[in-house]
Amino acid sequence: MGLFGKKSTLPLEVDLHSHLIPGIDDGSQSIEQSLHMIRSLIDMGFKKIITTPHIHPRYPNKNENIMLGLEKLQREIVSANILIELEAAAEYYVDESFYEKVKENEPILFFGDKYVLVESSFINKPAFFESTMFDLQSKGYKPVLAHPERYQFLEGSIDWLEELKGMGILFQVTLGSMGGYYGDKPMKISKQLLSEGMVDFLGSDLHRESHLPYLSKGLKSKEIQRLIKSGQLKNSQLL
Ligand SMILES: [Fe+2]
Repeated sequence: MGLFGKKSTLPLEVDLHSHLIPGIDDGSQSIEQSLHMIRSLIDMGFKKIITTPHIHPRYPNKNENIMLGLEKLQREIVSANILIELEAAAEYYVDESFYEKVKENEPILFFGDKYVLVESSFINKPAFFESTMFDLQSKGYKPVLAHPERYQFLEGSIDWLEELKGMGILFQVTLGSMGGYYGDKPMKISKQLLSEGMVDFLGSDLHRESHLPYLSKGLKSKEIQRLIKSGQLKNSQLL
């Protein structure tokens, strides 16, 4: 209990999934939006942000332009007197070109202990998803599946997710899913993953300012607060 008997919200401390480098994907479109969202994350108790621009057929970013964008944003943060640790990695869309990238040993953007954030198509499960994950793991990377609760092809079943868990794939549930931003089904699957102890990381997947209230609502939910309290989450290991 905090002051005045008000229940205090436990913070996550580190966010590892967001789209805050302006103009390079469907996330922030200006420095002003980025700074506003970063200030809001600080207000929610975040001390470190690992931002993860899409590397996706629609947003064909390269390591170089992501790192240049990161440096520019870091300079803006300093000149706006904002105190936060900011790093970048990427959210890789698993398709043939990512499969090739892994096979050819091209440099992959990772965070922390060789964690690589990956996402699948929402509509169809890619045929070679598992083999790509296996190749990543055999090269020493630890794949983290972004928003496992949001894939429509699951049709409410977590069978595929249980298979991936069995392969050692880590899961990042999105705070806004528990805040109701994505509707009933992702919330239901999030709750199931949370209650079965299948969640390794929580992330904001912050793209735009309209996400913020849902993010904060998700963070305050009793299920998320219980998980933070349990000490089983890996977010704070990234500090
Ligand atoms: Fe994302």
